[in-house]
Amino acid sequence: MHWLIKAAVQNSVALLPDPLSHDVYYAMQRRFGGLRSIEVEDKLRQGIEVAQRANGNGLRVEGARALEVGTGRRLNLPLSLWLQGAASVVTVDLNPYLRPELVHEDLRQIRDERARVEALFGERLDPARLQQLLALADDFDLDRLLQTCGIRYLSPGDAASVDLPPGVIDLHVSYEVFEHIPGPVLESILREGSRLVSDRGLLVHYIDFSDHFSHSDPGIGPINFLRFGEPAYKLLAGNRYMYMNRLRLDDFRALYARAGQRVLEEVSAPDPDTARALADGQPPLAPPFADKPHEIVSTLNAWLVSRPRAAS
Ligand SMILES: C[S@@+](CC[C@H](N)C(=O)[O-])C[C@H]1O[C@@H](n2cnc3c(N)ncnc32)[C@H](O)[C@@H]1O
Repeated sequence: MHWLIKAAVQNSVALLPDPLSHDVYYAMQRRFGGLRSIEVEDKLRQGIEVAQRANGNGLRVEGARALEVGTGRRLNLPLSLWLQGAASVVTVDLNPYLRPELVHEDLRQIRDERARVEALFGERLDPARLQQLLALADDFDLDRLLQTCGIRYLSPGDAASVDLPPGVIDLHVSYEVFEHIPGPVLESILREGSRLVSDRGLLVHYIDFSDHFSHSDPGIGPINFLRFGEPAYKLLAGNRYMYMNRLRLDDFRALYARAGQRVLEEVSAPDPDTARALADGQPPLAPPFADKPHEIVSTLNAWLVSRPRAAS
């Protein structure tokens, strides 16, 4: 779909009163959008990648107490961590977007594609836990699932202020969430993360810097949205369904430093096609993006593994 049409539809739906607005948006996502067909494997893989990053920085997921920022509609990241042995997972979302019917669908997919799921996790999988999970696929109940898997869903809840005592979390995670949260709020979320993590705790976050409209419109490139200055972009896509902060990797580095985080590992690289197009002046960039080095502007995603500076 042409991104401008999508943006106009999202802007219109965002003007509807709640809960109608959310219901209409969800119905559209199910019928025409990203939730038309769901792929459980992709989301389970996110949890495996988080575990690999944590492990590479000295923290095993087995036995860890995790906190996810930004649950969204499904529970696959918490489930993936639990299947790898996490002791518990708190998942916090400002908006109660979680849809039990999608979680049930994910469970049925895990059941129907069990061999693939087992192969995906390999040695990381706790087979007894998978068995427990599969038992819930036929007789589904969200509360029972949450209880069985040690998952606490806090929503509405703000990751910038979580009702938990200090030091009770070992792994503070999110996947494709930080690009949707305004910078000052992110800073508060990271400070709150510092309060929540234990002495051995880590913050592991994956950020997708690309223009999300390019995921469904092949006619635009991954940094198309950097053509626009802030006022124009706000008019085009400043609604709650497509809010993106457009912060680039250098902004995140500065934000992490301000929030008192020491980055232990940064996994990122400029995208060669985007870097080539930029060298040819495409797309023309609005300020402040025009002043940034091409290697920063053409970096489309990053893993940031950090821990509070005081604890390093
Ligand atoms: C793009 S969704 C990602 C959902 C999920 N991680 C996924 O991959 O499907 C971002 C989520 O972050 C949530 N969010 C935004 N600000 C938040 C905050 N301050 N605290 C907790 N969640 C927040 C939004 O409500 C939204 O559900």
